[in-house]
Amino acid sequence: MSGPSGDLELAEGLAREAGRLLSARYGEPVEGLRSKSSGTDMVSEADNEAERAVARGLASARPDDGVLGEEGTSSGGSSGRRWIVDPLDGTTNFLYGIPAWSVSIALEDGQGLLVAVVHSPCLNETYTAERGAGCRLNGAAVRVRPPAPLSAALVATGFAYGADQRAAQVETLRRVLPRVRDVRRAGSAALDLAWVAAGRLDGYWEMGISPWDWAGGALLVTEAGGAIRVLDGDPPGLLAATPALMEPLAGLVAG
Ligand code: IPD
Ligand code: CA
Repeated sequence: MSGPSGDLELAEGLAREAGRLLSARYGEPVEGLRSKSSGTDMVSEADNEAERAVARGLASARPDDGVLGEEGTSSGGSSGRRWIVDPLDGTTNFLYGIPAWSVSIALEDGQGLLVAVVHSPCLNETYTAERGAGCRLNGAAVRVRPPAPLSAALVATGFAYGADQRAAQVETLRRVLPRVRDVRRAGSAALDLAWVAAGRLDGYWEMGISPWDWAGGALLVTEAGGAIRVLDGDPPGLLAATPALMEPLAGLVAG
């Protein structure tokens, strides 16, 4: 369902436009490759071009709204609303020819997340959600999985780009892996969250992810009947799960 505002249509249109630009570069020689926060954190002209296209579209259609983008777009706006954009979530996968990458666009207002789109060109999947109106995959309503005990839970996680953070993440993984059905590390936080929403995973956690990684996916999860929790830490993390799994998984992840 779509509200009267057109915000969801705008977000979906821009995610598809970014997806087309990215798809044209996918598998082609990489331009403008450089590293960001660490040697393992890469960005290329593909990420930047996709973000420019989304930022241009938002500036023209919603000039009063703020925008925060992973590749540097940052404007405050005057409307009290802010778009949060990850133009290419799963940059490493993209650069290595692994199809698990996505475009994530979310809109928040004074009451929280309002609209979300996670678009996966390679998988031909577009996840959409609007506050109070449920979550959809290619237009069909989706829900989180039915309750499962920890021992039967398929969960996902992700790793940060900093070596110290990764060392701490291994300790958490050491605790979780023996207690669950299995752990996946697909490489796109937005898709991990979309897959919790669509009932493909029972849960997902990651320490240290940024708002552009999780904003879109978090609304998908809650609108699909799942639960979201911010995890204490420096930097903090995010846990998404079916409602029944939230407490046991949170306890396990926290140690
Ligand atoms: C990364 C992916 C990855 C997650 C990292 C993120 P990027 O985003 O979402 O799955 O584990 O924490 O930074 O760098 O590909 O946009
Ligand atoms: Ca990202």
